[in-house]
Formats: sequence, C-alpha cells, structure tokens
Amino acid sequence: MKIRSIKGFHDILPEDIGRWHHIEEHAKRSCELYGYSEIRIPVLEFTEVFARSIGAATDIVEKEMYTFADRDGSSLTLRPEGTAGVVRSYVENSMYTKSPQIKLYYTGMMFRHERPQKGRYRGFYQIGAEIFGSEAPESDAELIAMISGFFDGIGLSKSVTLELSSLGDGECRPAYKTMLMDYFIGHKDELCEDCQRRLDTNPLRILDCKQKGCIEISKNAPKMLDNLCDDCTQHFTRVKESLDSIGIPYEINPKIVRGLDYYTRTVFEFTTDQLGAQNAVAAGGRYDGLVKELGGPETPAVGFAMGIERIVLLHKEVIPEGFEKKTDIYIAYLGEEARDAAFKLAYEIRSSGARVEADYGGKSLKSQMKRADKSGARYTVIIGEEELKSGIVKLRDMEESSEHEVGMEELKKLASELKS
Ligand code: HAM
Repeated sequence: MKIRSIKGFHDILPEDIGRWHHIEEHAKRSCELYGYSEIRIPVLEFTEVFARSIGAATDIVEKEMYTFADRDGSSLTLRPEGTAGVVRSYVENSMYTKSPQIKLYYTGMMFRHERPQKGRYRGFYQIGAEIFGSEAPESDAELIAMISGFFDGIGLSKSVTLELSSLGDGECRPAYKTMLMDYFIGHKDELCEDCQRRLDTNPLRILDCKQKGCIEISKNAPKMLDNLCDDCTQHFTRVKESLDSIGIPYEINPKIVRGLDYYTRTVFEFTTDQLGAQNAVAAGGRYDGLVKELGGPETPAVGFAMGIERIVLLHKEVIPEGFEKKTDIYIAYLGEEARDAAFKLAYEIRSSGARVEADYGGKSLKSQMKRADKSGARYTVIIGEEELKSGIVKLRDMEESSEHEVGMEELKKLASELKS
C-alpha cells in the first residue's frame, strides 16, 4: 500500500511557503508592535487542561480531541487550541507576580477531529494572542484594532467583516440561560437530536446549530444582547465607542455563541464571504473567569486566534500571484574547469546575502539556462573558459533578456543589492 498522510492533515508545499511566511511575518510584526511577547507552549497537555477550559459540553471536548493514555495511564490531549495551554502556563509560572498586565502571542499547530472540508482540517495552524490582567474595554478594542491592522497590512481589509457581540457574565448569563431553556423546551420536539441533548447541557449551543429546523426556531429565541446586566452593557458600549473612535467598522451579530465555553462579555469573529462554509478567519473574546478556573488568582483576560490556512486561502483568492520564493542569481557554466569556478562563485556571492542557485550536474548550457528560467532567477551568470581567464563574467538580465559583462566587484555589489 502506498503511504499517505492522515485524513485532514496536509503538507504545506514549497510553492506556497512564500505566502505563508509573508502572512506569518506580518502577524508576528503586528503582535510585536502592540507589545506582545512570544510564548511557546507544548503541543501536548493533560486532558484536564482542555476539558476544564473549553467546557465538557462543547463539540471540541465531546468529540474532536485527540486524546490518548500515556504509558503511566494519565490522559493526554493534543492541543485543539492555544488559550488553555497559555493560561495553564500563565498560572504555573506565576506570571501574575511579574507584571499586572501580560501580553503573549503564540503560533503553532492545533488538532481537532472535525469533518474535513475546504478551510477545515484536523491539523491546522493558528496564530493567537492573549492579554492578561486588564478588564478595560479599551483592551478588547486594542486587540481588535491589532487584528484589523494585520488584515489591512496584507491587503485583506476589504475581504473581512468584523462581527461583534457580548455573552454577558456570571451576573446575567445564568438568568439568560434559564430564559433560553424555557423558550426551547416549548419547541423541544422540533429540535434535532443533538440540540435536544444540548437543552440540558448547554442551551446556548442550540443557537449555533446548523440544522435548518433549529435555525428557524432560534430566530425567535431571546437574545443575550437584550438581557445583559448594567455592567456588561456598559462594558460593551465602551468597546463599541473605542472602536468608533479609531474608525474600525463592525457589525453587531447577536448570534455569535463561539464554540468554547470560557467566554464572558465581548466576543467577535472576523468573517469572509469568499471561503464558503468555513467563514471565520479569526475569532476570540474575553474570558474573565478562566485563569481562576485553572487555579490562578482572579484575572481578567481577552484574546483571539486566527486560522492561517483560511487566511492563506483567502489571500490567494484576493492576490493570486507574487509570493513564490525566487532565486536572485543563477550560475551557469561551460566546461569542467568553469564548474569549479561556478561552485566557488556561488559560495562567495551568497555571503553578500543574495539567493544563489547553481546546478553542478554537468548539463548543457541550454538546459542550465532552462533551469535558471524555471527558478525565476532575476539574473544568470555565465562562466566559460574566456571568463575564467579574464575574471569577467557574462551577466544575463532574465527580465529584460539582455546580456553584459561584469567584474567580480560589480557582481558582488549587485548581489548585495538583490539581498531579499
Ligand atoms: P476558534 O474560533 O475555535 O477559537 O478558532 C480560531 C480560528 O482558528 C477560527 O476562526 C479559524 O480561523 C481557525 N480554525 C478553527 N478550527 C479550524 C479547523 N478545523 N481548520 C482550520 N482552521 C480552523 C479559538 O481557538 C480560541 N482559542 C481563540 C481565542 C483566543 N479566544 C480567546 N483567546
């Protein structure tokens, strides 16, 4: 049997890596600009870290985690998201003693056993950021401004919409849940099997169900936004005012429930209509109770994560060309003696910082020129016996299809200018 990758897992191939680097570098720069420091957390955690954070009655914990027993019998899980692990690290390393406000970002692979489709994978990459220690609505707005600036910086601001809502807090959500339960009990028979079960465990999840019947019933269900307590209303108003003050557009979407249970107050999603069903490219919100839940002191927090594959897909739709990694200078040679010189020359010019390619396979000049063309090289250097003697080489400008002779110093100068 031919070996193959696991369903839902995929390779990121060299032809796409230039675009990945472009997006990842932009995202990291945005985080650094806003004062976040990078944190690297393990891919594997005790299952409890996720079960307690994300919530036992969520799709992620109920059916999507890659969980297995370690050799000593303890239950381990491949991280389905980054927040739980970052909070675990924040508590374990007592970061709250180091500064009243800590801002962290992370990047890496996440694992969810979902049904794969376009933009939805079982192994996928996220970049995320978390702010610990600030209850201020300006922090929510600042985080959103950073994400918005990132999309702007990679040319996607017109392709995404910011959707915003509030999920209330310990004060107003329990009463809302009861209200919701009462409403759905009146429609129990019309709900799908999953939602009938959710009625007892997590009625908010019903609002997120994709079944036609459930969507219809949810339309007239009471809305969290109409039932926020005064503090939550005030907080949400300030988030909106802060966004207004810096001109960041948003749409209020009271239907946002999020797939993780730790959220309180602000929730948001950056969505696109260019990717089909998997329309959320970035999402997050406030989670003021989670640090305490995982054993730390009461610490307000807010954060987000974005799916890099989805952003890459969208970026390709909007800007199809121009992100392939290209060779700067290709070195072609004629004859065995020139081959040694080509090897040395490639070594020397690389130290000037240019991306240099050469093929030592003894092929004809014609086939070397073909390879040079395919590599996307801006210039090709051609060395033959004449050039060996004179120390002056032929430089072919591949874009303009012209040739002229250059000395070594000039070539090195050109290479350092090409440095990518
Ligand atoms: P999430 O909404 O589960 O939130 O995921 C964030 C983003 O990751 C999604 O908007 C999407 O772009 C991407 N994503 C999720 N699942 C998949 C998948 N199966 N395949 C491809 N991309 C996917 C979180 O993970 C929270 N930890 C965000 C957060 C941080 N909230 C507060 N802090």
